Amino acid sequence: MALINENYLKLKAGYLFPEISRRVAAFSTANPGRKILRLGIGDVTRPLCPKIVEAFQKGVEEMAASETFRGYGPEQGYGFLREAAATHDFQAFGADIRPEEIFISDGSKCDTGNIQEIFGSGNTIAIGDPVYPVYVDTNVMAGKTGPVQENGYYENILYMPCLEEQGFLPRVPKKKADIIYLCFPNNPTGATASRAELVQWVDYAKANRSVILFDAAYEAFIRDPAIPHSIFEIKGAKDVAIEFRSFSKTAGFTGTRCAYTVVPESLHAYTQSGEKVRVHDLWLRRQTTKFNGVSYPVQKAAEACYTEEGRTQIKNEISYYMENARIIKEKMSGYGYRVFGAENAPYVWFKTKNNMSSWNFFDLLLDKAGVVGTPGQGFGPSGEGYFRFSAFSSRNVVTEAMDALEKV
Ligand code: MLT
Repeated sequence: MALINENYLKLKAGYLFPEISRRVAAFSTANPGRKILRLGIGDVTRPLCPKIVEAFQKGVEEMAASETFRGYGPEQGYGFLREAAATHDFQAFGADIRPEEIFISDGSKCDTGNIQEIFGSGNTIAIGDPVYPVYVDTNVMAGKTGPVQENGYYENILYMPCLEEQGFLPRVPKKKADIIYLCFPNNPTGATASRAELVQWVDYAKANRSVILFDAAYEAFIRDPAIPHSIFEIKGAKDVAIEFRSFSKTAGFTGTRCAYTVVPESLHAYTQSGEKVRVHDLWLRRQTTKFNGVSYPVQKAAEACYTEEGRTQIKNEISYYMENARIIKEKMSGYGYRVFGAENAPYVWFKTKNNMSSWNFFDLLLDKAGVVGTPGQGFGPSGEGYFRFSAFSSRNVVTEAMDALEKV
């Protein structure tokens, strides 16, 4: 008799975004011909930039000629991309990250989901609420939590409520946490952490010998020059943090797939008996065993993001999405909602009116206006009563959706 991993049965519901797609599909079937305006999942809609396409095509051509054909690449990624990322994303900001500390991958969803594997099961795991659902769900699947409780929280997770009255920022826990998930700019709230706040987290991690898992997938959307783009801009962070970066939202790679994770060589965790172990070695072992790298043309395409032309073209795309965010924020505020985010992040987070539940609001918007968003509750219990719009749609969809909301 084959036994299943019963931890999967502890999961509360299907993954958030497929659940939204299922509801939208049911609505479309019941209302044929109704136009749907999608501001739900954070999925880019603009095509890849010309400089990226050029490099991508050249990579494919190289694969088509016997002299330049390549088979398996290095599991950690090609040197050319690791070097470009180290130089432009870190050293340019005064963060001393070396190419050897960078692991190229096919997405931050996979990396933030897989990283928990290299940590033990006795850890206290601190996670914000609301939060990108992958952090919680993957710990549940791996059996690192207990069952879900009536309040929607899983046992054995140290939740850090990110409430409106605290600017949606998690507070440094009073208790000891071993593994801490942070995401800035935040998905879903759009909140950002200042340098002083990140210093507090690094100090806490040092004092408690914890590891910070820092998801910086949205750093390219930061407008305020005072806000750090990387936790490694903070002194000492290399000894306590792992950082996740992605080309998905930055350069339109949601369908192309490329990201990377920085695991500094100076980061250590411990065995039960207190022996120090380099986390970098464990992640290297994991990746070389379970992953065969990202395709060569995709890595060439990603490398092009760091050329002068590539950077200018990407910046224009980001400005396009951020203008969408501005329009959504302005319109929603005009309709009398309390609106957050949208300034250093591509997400607009707002409170529903009269404390309407997030899923009821989802149904209302879909029914009355044909607009799809993401219910805050899907990101955790503290997201209840809030709602998220993504700025990654086309300008037409954004303006049509905002006009349609006048009816709601
Ligand atoms: C979101 O909408 O939250 C994102 O698309 C999720 C993701 O990047 O996986």
